[in-house]
Amino acid sequence: LAATVFAGLLITGTLTAKDPLPTGAGATQLTADMTYLKAGLEKKEEKAADPLKAVAMLIAMNAQNQMDGKDGEKMAGVRDQALKIAGALSKQGGADWDAAVKELAAMKDAKGDAKKTVKLHEQHAFDIHELMSIFKKKNKGGRGLEDDIREMANKPSDAKRVAEAGTLVALIGQYAEAMDGEADTADKKKKWTEWSKEMQKVGKEALEEALKGDKADKAAMVKKVKAIDANCTACHNVFKH
Ligand code: HEC
Repeated sequence: LAATVFAGLLITGTLTAKDPLPTGAGATQLTADMTYLKAGLEKKEEKAADPLKAVAMLIAMNAQNQMDGKDGEKMAGVRDQALKIAGALSKQGGADWDAAVKELAAMKDAKGDAKKTVKLHEQHAFDIHELMSIFKKKNKGGRGLEDDIREMANKPSDAKRVAEAGTLVALIGQYAEAMDGEADTADKKKKWTEWSKEMQKVGKEALEEALKGDKADKAAMVKKVKAIDANCTACHNVFKH
């Protein structure tokens, strides 16, 4: 299994039944997200506070998904630290950037209780608005993920980029499923559940094609990303205002 290292933290690609992602993909994304978070925290831009909180929450989810592996205590530690970062970024009166940076630095030595599953979507008043802010344009403090998806749905791009977008969409879908507060009728709840589950499915399918690496079919990847884009639009047509 591929092992990746972030700031001295060794993450092996252990997989669990709860992990909705193929082997190793969660670990790869964990490293990418930590790097993204570190760079973002150093810039201390207020407009990026919500999107970076969302990235911290995705790290927590991704780590928790991998807790039954042999790195369980480390993964629980990553989750706990990521939650502290999310807390520091959502302080009343503005983000506490220095605290967030400190908690990220402490991540590499952190150990946590791998037997304890946290209801992540209930932590730090995390909501759909903050979750979706990750998709915002880069100049608005977001990760530019919506622009990326639109581009990749229209022209072939490299497998690594598709893999990252697919992984993030799958993880975001996992949160979205638990955040059905916008759905105020039984019919709308049903639709919300359907689209948020679909989000996980289409994200994972794009990832699976992209994981073929050099052998990935470019046209197939475009099709998979188109399916992601269609899912965003379907849900937004009913729920985004
Ligand atoms: C299950 C429903 C659902 C799905 C699927 C969904 N969204 Fe959203 N999205 C929402 C809702 C609801 C909002 C409005 C949140 C708010 O601001 O209160 C939103 C808001 C947004 C925003 C505005 C964020 C801001 O702060 O300005 C962007 C950008 C966005 N979504 C991108 C996407 C992309 C890209 C996808 C697909 C990969 C996607 N969404 C999939 C429900 C969904």
